[in-house]
Amino acid sequence: MNQITIRRPDDWHVHLRDGDVLTGVTPYTARVFGRAIIMPNLVPPVTTAAMAEAYRSRIMAAVPEGSGFTPLMTCYLTDGTSPIDLADGRAAGIFTAAKLYPAGATTNSASGVTSIANIRRVLEVMERIGMPLCVHGEVTDPDIDIFDREAVFIDRILTPLLRDMPGLRVVLEHATTIQAVQFVEAAGSNVAATITPQHLHINRNAMLVGGIRPHAYCLPVAKREEHRLALRRAATGGSGKFFLGTDTAPHARHLKESGCGCAGIFNAPHALESYLTVFDEENALEHFEQFASLAGPAFYRLPVNEDSVTLERSEVVVPGEIDAHGTTIVPFHAGETMGWKILSTN
Ligand code: DOR
Ligand code: ZN
Repeated sequence: MNQITIRRPDDWHVHLRDGDVLTGVTPYTARVFGRAIIMPNLVPPVTTAAMAEAYRSRIMAAVPEGSGFTPLMTCYLTDGTSPIDLADGRAAGIFTAAKLYPAGATTNSASGVTSIANIRRVLEVMERIGMPLCVHGEVTDPDIDIFDREAVFIDRILTPLLRDMPGLRVVLEHATTIQAVQFVEAAGSNVAATITPQHLHINRNAMLVGGIRPHAYCLPVAKREEHRLALRRAATGGSGKFFLGTDTAPHARHLKESGCGCAGIFNAPHALESYLTVFDEENALEHFEQFASLAGPAFYRLPVNEDSVTLERSEVVVPGEIDAHGTTIVPFHAGETMGWKILSTN
């Protein structure tokens, strides 16, 4: 097969940032994806419906003319989130979901939730109204090794949470471990996961062998090879519980190539080609549309996109860096040759 046409995909996990970077990066996502879940970890974070509405307007101003792209906004949960503002924001069509960042887990998560008990009322309301909870699934305890933080979060936080609230709709974002795959597979249809391109392509060696490579660093950090293989099986197996969420997370080149480099991989420029390469390598092209374009809308209870995207086998060299309206960013796969390219969208 040298060409593949799928319904237009959506990206269920995106960081667009704000200001000039927002202007610079939004076209890469809007070119390919119909909709995207927009993560709220700005400075200050998007914690209210009014802030989300204002942010959505700034995003729309950065969407190229003629694009039908729709940003789907999320609420950054804090210990003080108002269940009423959240539910009203959802009813008004401003919020699609809410994002749980354990405080201190990742970029701009300092205002996140310090204990799940502090948002119990918020979660009860979300369970009642069927509002999805997007979860950054890592504990922050200093005594837990960073490579174990996802598995420990599943044991200590997510499993008891779903026992208490069995109807809560949860997306375990950017799954990186066998434990995450098994947890999602064993859970009900109210539990799903996104998987990023980088966690399908790289294991932790990519970060650490032959020199320290900051552009392969994101959170949750890439794990051992056995975990990457489990993620590839999950993504390409045709299950509706795993779907596309790139976690594209742009940071300026100099902030990643630093003594304390930022976490995040900017994969938006070739994300769809990157995923398709994995499905091709796994001989699973027949499941690509399910992962990219069907499973996400089904989980979020939204219609699938009407239009389509066609990719063809063709060599494309990924640039070494990208100018995002004045900020230099190194994209995922920089300098590599991809075996697929987007031929058309219509
Ligand atoms: O690598 C990451 N970057 N992981 C996250 O959870 C946040 C993201 C960011 O915002 O840069
Ligand atoms: Zn993210």
